[in-house]
Amino acid sequence: MANIGVDIELAKAILEQGNLVAIPTETVYGLAGNAFNVDAVAKIFKTKNRPTFDPLIVHVDSFDRLSEFTEELPEKAIQLTKMFWPGPLTILLKKKALISDLVTAGLETVAVRMPRHELTRELLKRLDFPLAAPSANPFGYISPTSAQHVHQQLGDKIEYILDGGECGVGVESTIVSFENKLPKVLRLGGISIEEIEEVIGKVEVNSHSSSQPQAPGMLKSHYAPKKKILAIDDLDSEVNDLSAFGFLGFNKPDLRFKLENQMILSESENLSDAAKNLFGSLRALDQNPNIHTIVISFVPEMGLGRAINDRLRRATAK
Ligand code: TXA
Ligand code: MG
Repeated sequence: MANIGVDIELAKAILEQGNLVAIPTETVYGLAGNAFNVDAVAKIFKTKNRPTFDPLIVHVDSFDRLSEFTEELPEKAIQLTKMFWPGPLTILLKKKALISDLVTAGLETVAVRMPRHELTRELLKRLDFPLAAPSANPFGYISPTSAQHVHQQLGDKIEYILDGGECGVGVESTIVSFENKLPKVLRLGGISIEEIEEVIGKVEVNSHSSSQPQAPGMLKSHYAPKKKILAIDDLDSEVNDLSAFGFLGFNKPDLRFKLENQMILSESENLSDAAKNLFGSLRALDQNPNIHTIVISFVPEMGLGRAINDRLRRATAK
């Protein structure tokens, strides 16, 4: 079973051997391996049970490191990284040969970001390679926002979980591509569209769910609990016994459900708090033995609320 701790030198040693360590970031925990080592990258896919058509994000701690394996940043990418790095922003850049096709699923671009979490920044600083890291959950399941979440699901498959406490942002990074220099948001996340548009002007948003994902991995059904889950609007009015139904609400309980079966994202209607609580709340409902079905309500479609609703839509998608 994996140990949980804050030993950066131990994490470094495991990674240098080509093995995996779960790392904290401000968004969600990542399952990290040496991005320059194909065997380590292959272990990531295997451990998560992730299909190899779904490319990984590479994490760096400096622009010097970045230029080793990517071509130059377009002007708007420079503006965005100046503003939001370190932080929950991922950009797609043309890759150099040092990055294997396994990392990028054969694409010419590589996804990169500079995470903000202090422990992981210190780890990256001590390593002489960047870290490829998808979210540290089995493929398709709810993302982990604490070391304990990682331990519950991947604890028997990895040696070490670097414990950085609870993730402050709680939803994954926003992904922006620059094909033909045109910025396009491929995944809504921890940096809102409004914040991005303040820096570089209007952007196209193309994160819509479909069975033919525009970016590999943007699959319609994702972030899903094991239990049955549905949106409140799809709750059949004919159902009259709601005693084994759980409810995930935004700001207040819904009196039709038992109070102890409910999780509220933010009583004060704060979207940052709601994002931070999202995955942990879904997970708690999924693990509550008194519930067989989870009912969710959406949050206001603005700022971080758009990323939250995106996750909720995917969690309820068939
Ligand atoms: O906040 C985050 O981004 C977290 C933390 C650990 O950094 N990571 C994360 O990784 O969410 P993951 O693997 O769960 O999601 C990465 C997404 C996938 O949907 C993948 O399809 C997309 O990034 N992606 C990666 N490289 C891409 C590329 N070259 N083109 C298009 N999409 C790409
Ligand atoms: Mg993920």
